[in-house]
Formats: sequence, structure tokens, C-alpha cells
Amino acid sequence: MQSNNKTPRYLEEFHPPARILMGAGPSNVNPRVLHAMTAPLLGHLDPDFIRVMDDVREMLRIVFQTTNVTTLPISGTGSAGMEAALVNILEPGDTVVVGINGYFADRISQIATRCGATVHIVNAPWGHPLDPKAMEAEVKKHPKVKVVAMVHAETSTGVQNPVAEIAQIAHRHGALALVDTVTSLGGIEVAIDRWGVDVCYSGTQKCLGCPPGLAPITFGPRAEEVLKSRKTPVQSWYLDVTLLRSYWSENRAYHHTAPISMIYGLREGLRVVLEEGLEARFQRHSRNAQALWAGLEALGLRLFAQEGVRLPTLTAVHIPDGVSDTQVRSALLRQYNIEIAGGLGPVAGKIWRIGLMGENAKPSNVVTLLSALEEILPKMGYEVAKGEGVAAAQRALAA
Ligand SMILES: Cc1ncc(COP(=O)(O)O)c(C=O)c1O
Repeated sequence: MQSNNKTPRYLEEFHPPARILMGAGPSNVNPRVLHAMTAPLLGHLDPDFIRVMDDVREMLRIVFQTTNVTTLPISGTGSAGMEAALVNILEPGDTVVVGINGYFADRISQIATRCGATVHIVNAPWGHPLDPKAMEAEVKKHPKVKVVAMVHAETSTGVQNPVAEIAQIAHRHGALALVDTVTSLGGIEVAIDRWGVDVCYSGTQKCLGCPPGLAPITFGPRAEEVLKSRKTPVQSWYLDVTLLRSYWSENRAYHHTAPISMIYGLREGLRVVLEEGLEARFQRHSRNAQALWAGLEALGLRLFAQEGVRLPTLTAVHIPDGVSDTQVRSALLRQYNIEIAGGLGPVAGKIWRIGLMGENAKPSNVVTLLSALEEILPKMGYEVAKGEGVAAAQRALAA
């Protein structure tokens, strides 16, 4: 019970510790983004705010590498983007093929089922990429597949899927390619038009370097045709992209009150991305990931994803036998202010997941984490050659 003369905790200011967020997201945010979010509010139909919206759409098209007209941020996190993509395209009775090699593709299949679609799953082992041949074989089995869905960067395993190849398969059989780029957009190449992706969504809190809360989404011409020819209304009013588009484009018809400050933040985050340049940004993510991988391997740790399909933005690593998952993560958090993530689903307790996304893909984070692991792991009964991890990372960074 609270004594009468003591201020309850909820009336005290909250000052979060300055963590290094190297988990699966959110990742740290550029101070320019946080500053932009403190700007005075404008009304959601104010002409000055409409300029901000137009800038955001233009920059999202550059980042998605698309000319798609319907490109905008959904109000909500990455899962809202996933839901928006599926509820707008699917109607009850449609057929969907989903490639599943991790936790988030499974979420796609769950949402598609809730939309009333018949879902056919093509599994690949966790840690391995989807097999385009197996995807094509499944698509061929069903007369009218409407959508082939997949996750580009599977955050649960650190694996990259061959999106362009699977998108071509989808088109060969008259289906749309629907892709999750929550852990790739802004960190590794995402080329919507060149790859022929028809519907794609992402989230702001990972490689785009913004807080969680918006889900950029884009619909290509084939997807637009599907939107136009729907027989039933989209089951979610809030996520109905046709209604949202009329607020985000010339009509400016009120739909819901835009999260103004989040959109200021996204505008600034996208400016940061484009000032760096997409190619330079991809190279930075790749260089730092190579250094992290070299460092972890020098400590004797085994990487979970196969070589050649490893994601630079998210590294999954086996937890050595006899080492406690939670004790290591808790020591990293409490003693070093570093957050890394544990495994999800079947790999919970078996892997750690280390994010190097957006602002966080930098040498100081790689070296700080490796030196913290060099200190912690021997205390947990796992001997390491002290200094070797950091040295290997530094050599990779200098190469
Ligand atoms: C690949 C992928 N898809 C979807 C999501 C869901 O995004 P959110 O947690 O922002 O709703 C995540 C979240 O980590 C993700 O990694």
C-alpha cells in the first residue's frame, strides 16, 4: 500500500536508461527524428501538413524503389501493415500460397485465414531460405492462386528469401506477389518495381531508424486492379487502402486523424536515409554485419542462418550448450545497457538474435557487444579466447 506522504511512482518523471537496442527492433533512433517529433502540431488537413505528407510519400517511393501511386504509411506497427496488405487484397474463398521459414510468415498465414482465404503452406526449415521450386510446385497444384506471400527478411531466423525469383513465379501463374520487408527496408536492397512485387509493407522501427508506430505500404498496378474489382468491402474500415488513399492524395478526404508527430518523425527519418544514400546505407549494414559475424565466430559461436542467405540486419546465433539464455541477456542489459533478443517459437532458448539496423549498424556497437560477451560468457561457464572476437571484428572492418 502507498503511504499517504509518499509520491506515487506514476507521478514521478520517467527517464528511460540509454540502452543500445541491438535486439530484433525497435532499434535506436537518430536524434534528428526525435527532435522532429517535438515540433508543434498542425491540423491533419493543414496545407503545411499536407506538404509533409507529400514529402513522405515521395521519399517512401524512393526507398521502396517504386513509382507506385498508392504508397503511404499505415497508422500502426508492422503487423498493421501486414494486416492492411492482406485484408485489402483478399476476399473470402481466395487461394493463397505462403512460404513459411519463420515466425512472421506464419503470422501472414494466420491473417490470410482470418480473411476467409484458403491458405496453402510451403515450409522450409528455419535457418534456410524458401525454395522457389517448391513454391512453384505448390502454386501449380491449385487452379486459381490469387497471392503468393513471403517475408523478405525473416527476423526470427536471420534469413533472406529470394523475393525476385518467387515474384516471377507468382506472375507466371497469374498471382500477385505480397512481401513483408519489415526487417529489410532501408537496410538491404528492396527493389519493388525491378523485382515485380505487387504489395509490400514494412515498419518504421527497424532499418528506417524511427520509433515504432507507422507501417509504410505500397500497392502496384496489378494490386490496384484487384482493389478496383473487389466484390466485397474490405473487412477492416480502418485499414481500407482505397479510403486511406483519398486522404493521402488529391481528395484529402478525412479518414482518421493522422498521427501527426509520427509522420514528422518519419519524414526526418527518410531524409536521414536519403542523405546517406541507399547504396551507402546497404554497404554500411553489410560491412558491420560481416564484422559481427567474424567476431562471433572467433568466439567459437555458431551462426544460425546458412552462409550466403544471412541477413546483415539481423544475426541469429546458437546459444552454446550449458549457457543460460536469460542470464546472458539479463547481464547484457543490466551491466552493459545492451539489449539483444532471444529466439521465438521453436528456437526460443536456442538462439540469440542480434540486430544491426539503421542507426545501430555501426562499428562501436559491434565492438561493444563483442567485448561485453567476452566478459560475460566465461562467467557463465563458456570459455572464450579473450580479445579474439573484438580483434576479428576490427580486422573485418579494416579490410
Ligand atoms: C518480419 C516481420 N514482420 C512483421 C513484424 C511485426 O511488426 P510489429 O511488431 O511492428 O507489429 C515484425 C516484427 O518484428 C517482423 O520482424
